Amino acid sequence: MNAVALVPAAGRGRRLGAGMPKALVPVAGESLLLRAVRGLLASGCVQHVVVAAPDDGVTLVEDDLAPLGAADAVHVVAGGAERTDSVRIALEAALARVSGVTTVLVHDAARAFTPPSVVRTVVEAVQRGAPAVVPVLPVADTVKQVDVDGAVEHTVDRNALRAVQTPQGFTVTVLREAYEIDGDIATDDAGLVERVGHPVLAVPGHPHALKITTAFDLAIAERVLAPAAS
Ligand code: CTP
Ligand code: MG
Repeated sequence: MNAVALVPAAGRGRRLGAGMPKALVPVAGESLLLRAVRGLLASGCVQHVVVAAPDDGVTLVEDDLAPLGAADAVHVVAGGAERTDSVRIALEAALARVSGVTTVLVHDAARAFTPPSVVRTVVEAVQRGAPAVVPVLPVADTVKQVDVDGAVEHTVDRNALRAVQTPQGFTVTVLREAYEIDGDIATDDAGLVERVGHPVLAVPGHPHALKITTAFDLAIAERVLAPAAS
């Protein structure tokens, strides 16, 4: 069941605007990153975590994660300019540090309240034979495609749509192949895998795995998610 998890946490958090990297923003006294890494380890199926920190914040991130008391299982590296750069760097670091890796998870620090059960579901699906796995939720809103002037072109059938979360899980071979594409910027890792032609399996995600992006999301985390997690 053992997997290695890569945690891209090198973003600046501009949309949140907290004046610090988003991963270090505290919710009820504990950072998003600390909560995200704790959730991965609590799943019982993650043996090692590599965190990509802002390049000027590696020590800050190591200090932030110290309360976990898991220094042997958690390794911090300097991330890159784009999320894909951070994941690529973390993947290389994980492969250099841990031998015999077969399953790799990629999990955004910003999805700090992802239940450990979602982590287990993703790892199990990879280890049952899926080369790439994404946790998803149905889309509640009606979705319309619009042109640049705002005119609606058509209504998309939402029954066929899913909103995608993390952790996303991969066999190490497939994730390496996907990341061999140079200079590609994707909003998720499975998107890179799709482009190299491998199938991606969707499994159930969880509302608590929402990505904390804005001050509104942070308010939800403070009032709803942190009390539920304690
Ligand atoms: N991330 C990263 N390296 C980057 C950019 C983003 O590791 N160069 C990480 C973020 O830290 C976050 C995840 O990728 O955990 C998803 O990115 P996002 O939610 O967009 O976070 P930020 O880039 O920090 O936020 P913003 O886009 O508002 O600046
Ligand atoms: Mg970003």
